[in-house]
Amino acid sequence: MSRHLLSIADLTVDEMITFFDTAAEMHDVQRREVKKLPALRGRTIINLFFEDSTRTRSSFEIAGKWLSADTINIAGKGSSASKGESLRDTVQTITAMGVDALVMRHSASGSAHQVSQWVDSVVINAGDGTHEHPTQALLDAYTLQRRLGSLEGRKILLVGDLTHSRVFRSNILCLTALGADVTVVAPPTLMPSGIDTWSREAGFSTSYDLDEELPKAEAVMMLRVQRERMTGGYFPSAREYTVGYGLTRDRLAVLGPDVPICHPGPMNRGLEIAADAADAAQSLVLDQVSAGVAIRMSILYHLLSGDGTSA
Ligand code: NCD
Repeated sequence: MSRHLLSIADLTVDEMITFFDTAAEMHDVQRREVKKLPALRGRTIINLFFEDSTRTRSSFEIAGKWLSADTINIAGKGSSASKGESLRDTVQTITAMGVDALVMRHSASGSAHQVSQWVDSVVINAGDGTHEHPTQALLDAYTLQRRLGSLEGRKILLVGDLTHSRVFRSNILCLTALGADVTVVAPPTLMPSGIDTWSREAGFSTSYDLDEELPKAEAVMMLRVQRERMTGGYFPSAREYTVGYGLTRDRLAVLGPDVPICHPGPMNRGLEIAADAADAAQSLVLDQVSAGVAIRMSILYHLLSGDGTSA
């Protein structure tokens, strides 16, 4: 197993399955009244987030605490980075204190990989620009597997703002490696450039027509419209986006009642997903959040306990 977790591309399928198996055990710990395991006692984990986060940062913090590590949160805005300190100086300063793992989120694609070359600590990518968000993809695949069983040959739709989505990029790598039959759906303006070549090579399909794909879906993952990363007009109006690509109440009716609905959060209710869909019995949105803690416990455990090569 590689020392860091920077990209899904660095993992073998066996390693993914190892993460899932340990996560299932950690999930049981989550249900206990006393949730502490001693596995990472004496280890220090820093969460360094230069971008906003609710679930990723808090679930890493909880995961570390339940494994008895000392976890410390540093927000980019409150650090000396806002005084002009370079990323290199910031991460070298923090890790010089004797830190075992650095969980980082930054708006620059490739930043986690860059940082892993500057520090001795284990680096875990919690989102780098529009590039990757590997722990999110692992928790998504884990959640879907718990619901559907093996993902081999299962038809999974990823729908929404693909251009700006690191979740989509990590999910494509993870889901196709696990054998899923993935179709990505977006308006032409939010379909990443070069996707034709990529989809051919990686073995997934693309579509501009959600209504054609929905009846065939065995699981649907809606992705957030990332307005904060948009510089121009990618669609005429929010209403038009919803009409073409939102999981509306009408589309929910087309979906079988057992077809799971995922969304990594944060959701724009009423834009990419209607409240009826987000709160439907088949919605796995909160299961994803709880799986997020179990998967991150599993990842921290494997990367930080012992030599990082085995359970
Ligand atoms: C995602 C992210 O930050 O990449 N959220 C998350 O981690 N759960 C997706 C998003 O911001 O839309």
